[in-house]
Amino acid sequence: MKQIAVIGAGTMGNGIAHVFAQFGYDVNLIDIAQASLDRGIATITKNLDRQVAKERITADDKDSTLSRISTFTDLASGVKDRELVVEAATENVDLKLNIFKQMDEHAPEGCILSTNTSSISITKIAAATSRPDKVIGMHFMNPVPVMKLVEIIRGYATSDEVTNTIMEVSKSLKKVPVEVNDYPGFVANRILMPMINEAIITLHEGVAGVEEIDTVMKLGMAHPMGPLQLADFIGLDVCLSIMNVLHDGFGNGKYAPCPLLVNMVTAGKLGIKSGEGFYSWSHGTKDLVVADNFKK
Ligand SMILES: NC(=O)c1ccc[n+]([C@@H]2O[C@H](COP(=O)([O-])OP(=O)(O)OC[C@H]3O[C@@H](n4cnc5c(N)ncnc54)[C@H](O)[C@@H]3O)[C@@H](O)[C@H]2O)c1
Repeated sequence: MKQIAVIGAGTMGNGIAHVFAQFGYDVNLIDIAQASLDRGIATITKNLDRQVAKERITADDKDSTLSRISTFTDLASGVKDRELVVEAATENVDLKLNIFKQMDEHAPEGCILSTNTSSISITKIAAATSRPDKVIGMHFMNPVPVMKLVEIIRGYATSDEVTNTIMEVSKSLKKVPVEVNDYPGFVANRILMPMINEAIITLHEGVAGVEEIDTVMKLGMAHPMGPLQLADFIGLDVCLSIMNVLHDGFGNGKYAPCPLLVNMVTAGKLGIKSGEGFYSWSHGTKDLVVADNFKK
């Protein structure tokens, strides 16, 4: 397998395109917006420059990686001769169902259709196509060129053959694939998000402050960053929407999102992307400054 397409040139899509192209795949990068494609290619170029500066790859590797990526704003042309498509468009159920219908219509019959969704059911996405046995989750982690894990999610109808192929493709990218089944949050977010939510509840109940909670988890559990800082990195809106998926999917009160998380999202305090969450990010991401609301 060498001919692949990536749908969505945002944070994840450009990272996925970068890694596939770096490991010799011919990549069609597709987005509805030409501006997103331009930004995506600029980000890939910047990240390749960083790899060259660190002597992880040569300048020739950078050029050949970029030469393997073509951009498209038309989905039908971008997927028509592909063996694998990785969908990494905006996290929205209706949008993804619509993209999968189009992919099913325009990609060759044998093409595997995968999604990088963080929380939407693979089985539901697969049901929008005429080939549910060839639909699978490929959940890359952010930033894609750096993070080793790919969570491989089998939908209800995903075949063994497709799963094995995708495990091998992931290994060819020097990633470590882990196979899991399709239940709300899969494994990564089912465990991570309740931990982040519990950190927010701990803050909300006044058990400790932002820095204290993050310090306990960093120095006590050897986490590279505390759960509140991580929530700011991920985006509080994303954390809330994944907690809602867990809450709806399991119908269990332990997954109820913390009211403070709901309030912050309603107030537009989304973390780094809005400039403020548990920390204030207006000065950059190097020094941690607790947001005014949480200063003692
Ligand atoms: N950001 C993360 O840390 C992260 C981690 C793992 C998985 N994910 C998942 O990856 C997917 C993408 O997330 P992201 O953070 O890269 O989002 P993003 O907002 O950075 O990028 C989404 C891109 O999709 C494009 N798009 C929207 N509709 C489209 C369509 N119909 N056809 C083609 N392109 C379209 C947008 O123009 C945008 O460029 C989501 O499913 C998300 O849940 C995100």
